Amino acid sequence: MPPIRKCLFPAAGYGTRFLPATKAMPKEMLPVVNKPLIQYGVEEAARAGITDMAFVTGRGKRALEDHFDTSHELERQIAGSERESLLEDIRRLVRECRFSWTRQREARGLGHAVLTGETLIGNEPFAVLLADDFCVTGDAGVLGQLTAVFAEQQCSIVAVEEVPASETASYGMIAGEEISPGLFRVSRMVEKPAPEEAPGNLAIIGRYILTPDIFAILRATEPGRNNELQLTDALQSQARQGKVLALRFRGRRFDCGSVAGYMAANEYVWKRP
Ligand code: G1P
Repeated sequence: MPPIRKCLFPAAGYGTRFLPATKAMPKEMLPVVNKPLIQYGVEEAARAGITDMAFVTGRGKRALEDHFDTSHELERQIAGSERESLLEDIRRLVRECRFSWTRQREARGLGHAVLTGETLIGNEPFAVLLADDFCVTGDAGVLGQLTAVFAEQQCSIVAVEEVPASETASYGMIAGEEISPGLFRVSRMVEKPAPEEAPGNLAIIGRYILTPDIFAILRATEPGRNNELQLTDALQSQARQGKVLALRFRGRRFDCGSVAGYMAANEYVWKRP
């Protein structure tokens, strides 16, 4: 299979936990210190060698497109001023990456969002990044860690971390055999199980590498938890054939979909040298 060139960013959710901040603003535009969550996500993908950034958005998400475009007025105003350096990173991304957009008309789950993105991805393996899982690593980023495994293993891969039993109902949970330190061959995956139904304590966090057969599988998958089309359920079909790995990623994650996690991320980044 070719190397991973494309990353899909599902970004159609409403972010109701952050109301009223997210009433008119996409939750992906919430900043950690002075940079929006979605920009950290795109930077992580770019660091992993990915060039094509594909977004699945919805109503009220126009600010995302504007963020990854050039603002000529702003450029004119800021040219030569000391603030210009604040735009350096985003300018580089806009220059060096390709951006494409499609819209998910109804909120029918992460699986449905990924299926909606098929038109932007086509028939090749790709990454998925959920921007509200904010990750800090000392190296190439979580996606970089996953693409390195993909280069050798050529199958779907999810990033996982251990969570306490009280949190299993917030995540896709996996079970598997550890085939090398931190790398598991997944045997079971369950979306948001109660603690007593969880297959283990490893939770999927918002970073995936998916092989393109996932689209056909998603099309044949029935709605699951919350009556939504779940990516975890489609992955379980691949896992049954031994074709899903889980990597316990090296680094730290903040759940920026929750106010507490978001506040912790801000404090962490603000205090970091
Ligand atoms: C989604 C997935 C879930 C995964 C989580 C990671 O859930 O469905 O399997 O563990 O992302 O953040 P969501 O948080 O969108 O409800």
